[in-house]
Amino acid sequence: MLAGKHILLGITGSIAAYKAAALTRLLVKAGCEVQVVMTTLAKQFITPLTMATLSKRPILVEFFDPENGAWNSHIKLGEWADCMLVAPATANTLAKMAHGVADNLLLTSYLSARCPVAVAPAMDLDMFAHPSTQENLRLLASRGVKIVDPGSGFLASGLEGKGRMAEPEQIVAFLEELFDEKKKSLAGKHLLVTAGPTCEAIDPVRYITNHSTGKMGYAIAGELAARGARVTLVSGPTQLACPKGVDRVDVRSAEQMYEASTKAFPQADGAVMCAAVADYTPAVVADRKIKKSDDDMAIPLKRTRDIAAELGRQKEGRLLVGFALETDHELEHAQGKLERKNLDFIVLNSLQNAGAGFGVDTNVVTLIDRQGREELPLLSKHEVASRIVDKIESLILK
Ligand code: CTP
Repeated sequence: MLAGKHILLGITGSIAAYKAAALTRLLVKAGCEVQVVMTTLAKQFITPLTMATLSKRPILVEFFDPENGAWNSHIKLGEWADCMLVAPATANTLAKMAHGVADNLLLTSYLSARCPVAVAPAMDLDMFAHPSTQENLRLLASRGVKIVDPGSGFLASGLEGKGRMAEPEQIVAFLEELFDEKKKSLAGKHLLVTAGPTCEAIDPVRYITNHSTGKMGYAIAGELAARGARVTLVSGPTQLACPKGVDRVDVRSAEQMYEASTKAFPQADGAVMCAAVADYTPAVVADRKIKKSDDDMAIPLKRTRDIAAELGRQKEGRLLVGFALETDHELEHAQGKLERKNLDFIVLNSLQNAGAGFGVDTNVVTLIDRQGREELPLLSKHEVASRIVDKIESLILK
């Protein structure tokens, strides 16, 4: 379950920092990529060399490298991480986290992190029991920070009581559960996803289509299913395998996609409209192959029905997400579609961005709702899917 996960491991100045070595080994063994960020004091307890060797990455302490001035971007760290884990977390760091103090790289990374955050407190029993520490932990927990409860036992101070950092094995088990919880966050919800192109027949051998590969829609369907949702994927023709746990309904034309989507929507809690639906279809489909002649020819086209707009009319409290692929006046066009189709938010794909568009595995998108917009950096389509599903989750679980 932890394989492939990016863990940002924050180490603070506690004697329990020695356990961070074993913790890192266990995480690496489980297939995680671990990036260590330490406070200056933590370096007194465990060496950067030990942590860099075990994590297989240079550790980070300062905002920039004093030798060459290279900037350590806390924003990038926050975006990279699937989970930030502060272990050991001292009373001092917990207090700073609770109150937004940003005087080291670990804390700025915490403030920028959008991923789940867990802390494993480690301190003396009286410090742990102190009302201010308890109040800070309550505050952090109320904001979604997960607390790995410390154990009771022999403490470095010579006293006995609660404050020992949880053992590395317990922390790894805690993370496994955390990811599992995240995965099942949409259990009981049913989402419709449309994906891929449509094919509009001209005659029995020819059709009109577009360059959509369906990758973005399939990634979203897969991510929704991985988080426990029931997913109906209405898909135009693609080369892609159906993601695990997803029910696929295969269609070809815009009309078939309309029928399948309007049929599934009433049972769903929401829909994500990723398909590149043809706006026009041949007015008549020749029942035999059209033979060429010496003349030029024109094919009369008629409008197809707008599936997203129809679902927007029927939605009655359901969530509706659309996509817009634009080449000019991007924001204006996307905002127009948000209103016209009665969407909750729209994912703007600008073909002007390098790394965005058809067939590639990356995407650059902006999420636009009525409150404003959020521009995401260049990410893999899977990471974009995960961010879109995070937003769906926050709206659907409200
Ligand atoms: N959409 C749909 N049914 C259609 C057309 C579009 O469900 N017949 C959905 C797409 O899946 C996407 C959004 O509407 O979520 C895109 O809308 P739109 O941009 O209007 O489609 P385009 O054909 O790109 O429109 P335009 O030519 O105006 O840019």
